[in-house]
Amino acid sequence: MAAEAEAIFPRDLHFSEADFLAVRSLLYNKTGIALSDAKNHMAYARLAKRVRHQGFKSFADYLALLDSAAGAGEWEHFINALTTNLTSFFRESHHFDILRQHAQQHAEGSNPYRVWSSAASTGEEPYSILFTLAQTLQAGRYDIVASDIDTQVLTKAASGVYSADRVAKLDPSLLKQFFVRGVGSNNGKVKVKSVFARQVQFRQINLVDASWPQLGVFDVIFCRNVLIYFDKQTQAGILEHFARHLKPHGLLLLGHSENIQHISNTFAPCGKTAYRLARG
Ligand SMILES: C[S@@+](CC[C@H](N)C(=O)[O-])C[C@H]1O[C@@H](n2cnc3c(N)ncnc32)[C@H](O)[C@@H]1O
Repeated sequence: MAAEAEAIFPRDLHFSEADFLAVRSLLYNKTGIALSDAKNHMAYARLAKRVRHQGFKSFADYLALLDSAAGAGEWEHFINALTTNLTSFFRESHHFDILRQHAQQHAEGSNPYRVWSSAASTGEEPYSILFTLAQTLQAGRYDIVASDIDTQVLTKAASGVYSADRVAKLDPSLLKQFFVRGVGSNNGKVKVKSVFARQVQFRQINLVDASWPQLGVFDVIFCRNVLIYFDKQTQAGILEHFARHLKPHGLLLLGHSENIQHISNTFAPCGKTAYRLARG
């Protein structure tokens, strides 16, 4: 497969099998992302720009830079280049119906209703959570944390700016309520209204880190379409960690292909790709 891709897209930088294995192991150690053999071409395509940017002709030189003290700042670019950030507003829309119902039942007392989007990518997921809660609960009664390992997508997410085609499928009344349209050089773009956007707190968090920053406990954790990149052992570790950050009635929402029943006894299914604490 790699040879086939190479024949179609000739490579101007030297990228040996050993280089690919090194990229794979560095990425796994830093992020938990496990690349299969089939991702050789993807690794080349995503990293070639960084290799050229650093003025190298071979991946071996680039990998040596990462290995040196001088390469400390390059790690962020390495990780950003290799993450996959596909997302959309109200993706897997059944979760937002579940969220609305759960918020109606559990947002009470003096504490805010808290939701964490733990692989937030470019922000469509946390903003979909925001729109749902803003239409369900009173202002100031909820709190949303959005995190990702990738600093580039977090910057995009925090800007709240999207091209019009990203929001084309949203209900016009929702667009009107939550976005402003760009004018002049921002024509063709929309921005989440700041009065709403400031209720989302963006932070960089690596889910495979042994300890996370002080986060407190949540009513709902979204961890969608990221566990698929990790092996079973990494998935199990993250699930145990999530359990410590969930209120007893809390929900964990996963992506459509992420079934954890064979990995964890801590969570029990309670709806389509929705889980609760088994002891909750
Ligand atoms: C495919 S996107 C999913 C976005 C969104 N949750 C959704 O379902 O539409 C996966 C995201 O997980 C992030 N990611 C990958 N490894 C991570 C890690 N170790 N810690 C935190 N985020 C990670 C990537 O940067 C990427 O933005």
